[in-house]
Formats: sequence, C-alpha cells, structure tokens
Amino acid sequence: MSSIIHPKTLAIFASGKGSNAQKIIDYFKDKAGVNIGLIVCNKEGAGVLQIALKESIPFIVIGKEQFNREGYLNTLRQHDIDFIVLAGFLWKVPSVLVNAYPGKIVNIHPALLPTYGGKGMYGMNVHSAVLAAGELKSGITIHMVDDKYDHGAIVLQKTVDITPDDTPETLADKIHLLEHQYFAPTIEKILNGIGPEVNK
Ligand code: GRF
Repeated sequence: MSSIIHPKTLAIFASGKGSNAQKIIDYFKDKAGVNIGLIVCNKEGAGVLQIALKESIPFIVIGKEQFNREGYLNTLRQHDIDFIVLAGFLWKVPSVLVNAYPGKIVNIHPALLPTYGGKGMYGMNVHSAVLAAGELKSGITIHMVDDKYDHGAIVLQKTVDITPDDTPETLADKIHLLEHQYFAPTIEKILNGIGPEVNK
C-alpha cells in the first residue's frame, strides 16, 4: 500500500500485555508518515509499559477521574497526537475525547460485534460467553469509536471457526492471531482515508 499522504502521530491506549501495541509499533517502524508518539495506559505495571520503555516511546499512566473529566487532552496535544488507537484499552472513552477526535479513534474488539460487546465484555469474559452460547464462529471487529461501548462504525471483521475442543484460552489465541494480522494494516487504511468495509 502507498505510504500515508499526510504524516500522522498516533497514540496507542492499552491496559494490558500490549501484544497488539507491539505489532502496531513494528508495522509502522519502517513506514514513512506514521509515528507512534505516545502510549497511554491505565494500569501501573502493565506489560505495555515495558514495551514503551523498550521502544523509547513516551508513555503516561492515567487516572480514571481525570480521564473522564478532560480525557488528558492537553497531554495528547503536547505530543501532537492526530489519531488514537485503542489496543486492549478497558475504559470507556469519555465524550470529551470522542468530540476532540471525531472519527479519529479506532478500537479492536475480540468478537463479532454487535454481539458479545458492551460493558463487562472484555478479555476471557468475551470468549467464555461465545463458547457458552455454542457459537460456531467468533472473530475480530475493528471499529471507529463513539461514546457508546463497542458501538461505532465497523471497519473490518474477520472470522475464525470454533472447534469442539476450544476453550476460552485457545479461542483467545486464535483471535490474537487475527488481531496481529489485521489491526495495523487496517489502521493504515483508515489513515489513508479508506472508509469502513465489512469484510468477513
Ligand atoms: C485483545 O484481544 C483486544 O481485542 C482486547 O484486549 C486484548 C488485548 O491484548 N480488547 P494485548 O494486550 O494487545 O495482548
């Protein structure tokens, strides 16, 4: 794909291990026009902070009250952030941030929205619910963020087959593989102005 026309500085918001964050960092390392300018994390000791240190990317650990009140907008502006990637970020994004970055926040969800989304549907909860319902498929959803949980326009979905021996852990592994394959290239498409497509 052609490189990004207008240079963009991304912030990655993550709460956990950060394997998706690492993939995104690696993907854009050699690409002109995209810079990962900040890692935002809400959890002291989260693996993603080690990644930030290793990659020499500035990071902040945020608090909930301030996040909900002002979305750390000043910090994002200080780092010239144009676009926000939620890569395993567990807090709902407040309206103040959605309004400041309209159509410029993307999330990845480890299931096929609109099912298995919303409050409480994160991590193993999602995969356990999918298996308990006897679903034959699950997958990933990459979507733009609005101020409702797991709700904005879907950009891309990819499915994976569920087999009878799947556990929440094995399903999580399958889903992670899809996430690692598709998230960064889809972010690049969005940055290039290629709009939502649902491509199962
Ligand atoms: C991913 O499965 C993502 O879909 C979900 O949280 C997980 C984060 O994994 N929202 P990691 O921290 O990127 O490894």
